[in-house]
Amino acid sequence: MQAVQDFIQQHRERFLEELFELLRLPSVSADPQYKDNVFKTAEFVAEALKKAGADTVEVCPTDGFPIVYAEKIIDPAKPTVLVYGHYDVQPPDPMDLWDSPPFEPVIKETPVHPDGAIFARGACDDKGQLYMHVKAFEAMVQNDSLPCNVKFMIEGEEEVGSANLGIFCRENKEKLACDTILISDTSIIANETPSITVGLRGLSYLEVEVTGPNRDLHSGVYGGGVANPINVLCDMISSLQDDNKRITIPGFYEDVVELSEAERKKMNEAPFNLDKYKQDLAIGDVQGEAGYTTLERVSIRPSLDVNGIWGGYIGEGAKTVLPSKAYAKISMRLVPNQNSDKITELFRQHFESMAPPSVQVKVIPHHGGEPAMTPTDTPEYLAASKAMEETFGQVPIPTREGGSIPIVALFEDVLNAKSVLMGFGLNSDAIHSPNEHYGLFNFYKGIETIPYFYQHYAALK
Ligand code: BES
Ligand code: MN
Ligand code: MN
Repeated sequence: MQAVQDFIQQHRERFLEELFELLRLPSVSADPQYKDNVFKTAEFVAEALKKAGADTVEVCPTDGFPIVYAEKIIDPAKPTVLVYGHYDVQPPDPMDLWDSPPFEPVIKETPVHPDGAIFARGACDDKGQLYMHVKAFEAMVQNDSLPCNVKFMIEGEEEVGSANLGIFCRENKEKLACDTILISDTSIIANETPSITVGLRGLSYLEVEVTGPNRDLHSGVYGGGVANPINVLCDMISSLQDDNKRITIPGFYEDVVELSEAERKKMNEAPFNLDKYKQDLAIGDVQGEAGYTTLERVSIRPSLDVNGIWGGYIGEGAKTVLPSKAYAKISMRLVPNQNSDKITELFRQHFESMAPPSVQVKVIPHHGGEPAMTPTDTPEYLAASKAMEETFGQVPIPTREGGSIPIVALFEDVLNAKSVLMGFGLNSDAIHSPNEHYGLFNFYKGIETIPYFYQHYAALK
């Protein structure tokens, strides 16, 4: 292991330069304008895995963006770890809020990252984190230290709902067969407080369209006499939550697993500073479901948010118009044992039934994903825990997070394997936002920790 760690120290600069190259490719899966670059990025990742020492590397086409598959089988009798990550990134908009261009990575110091952080779209989510795996793998292979088999599955559609991943997994069960799945696409509490994610929320994402009159109208000639679909949509959206910020969709909470008092007490012992939280976001106060703490509201409780709302005139100056249509994109975060399809259907029924006769409502489901929990008594959890303890000098705290990685539930279903969520990001790294960044400390800590994971996993399994 010393040789592996020495190798990592010797090649620090090169690892970073290579990551910069990856970050320069604008692999935005949501926007067709970036299509060619998403394909190029798949090739880049495949090439990187080949150079790192994988025996087989394939760029597997799908109906969308390709899935990069690679493997190194040292001995079929040894356990196999499947590493999952995604090479696609979120759109960079709003562009004008970036302090440096999103696809021109630079290092800057920040109060939480005094050693510097890499600023670029995808730096933390998930290129920086997936590249830690490529480099840790290289360090192990180059030093003949790999104690188990490793497979890689790196997809390019995570940020848009992974529509083709389920199909790929079902069609390639044998190829993907493994003992556990290792994912670095989550956060730790702080650089001084390591943690391992043991729960993720699910997601129901949909779009609504509200139609009023058959054409845009003069807001003076018709205003006051005809329902304005934007006003109606706002009323409908605000009625989706009551004064206690509980979601009012009938049946919404039916399947929600409530935690015991002891479990809640335990989770609220995790370090969390509400003042700092508010300060970081420049908000006067937090808000959320009555009876729950902020930590609980963003992890063990479901939520509903409008992600975008539009209609009418939004150009320069004023235009007096009573628009014909209004739209919104709405997401709901789900917790165990809620089901994404069921919640989407409950939403649709409720939204349609509450529409006043003055408008027509259409609900268009987008993607979804199921919530997931990962156990803490598995060899993979213990291996991750020991690995982090070694490199951070502290036993990591199991935490539940609010984001979604739908593949975790899917893997369990299709491959019958559990995942371990050993991420190294920070919640303050601005993923999905302008000025996304990833600490150099976190990047290197990840590369150093992963080899210990393999070592402990092979020993425990
Ligand atoms: N890496 C995130 C999920 C995440 C972030 C989990 C932070 C835990 C902590 C992932 O790339 C992501 O953004 N997922 C999407 C879901 C997808 C279906 C679009 C999400 O959570 O919005
Ligand atoms: Mn991610
Ligand atoms: Mn993401």
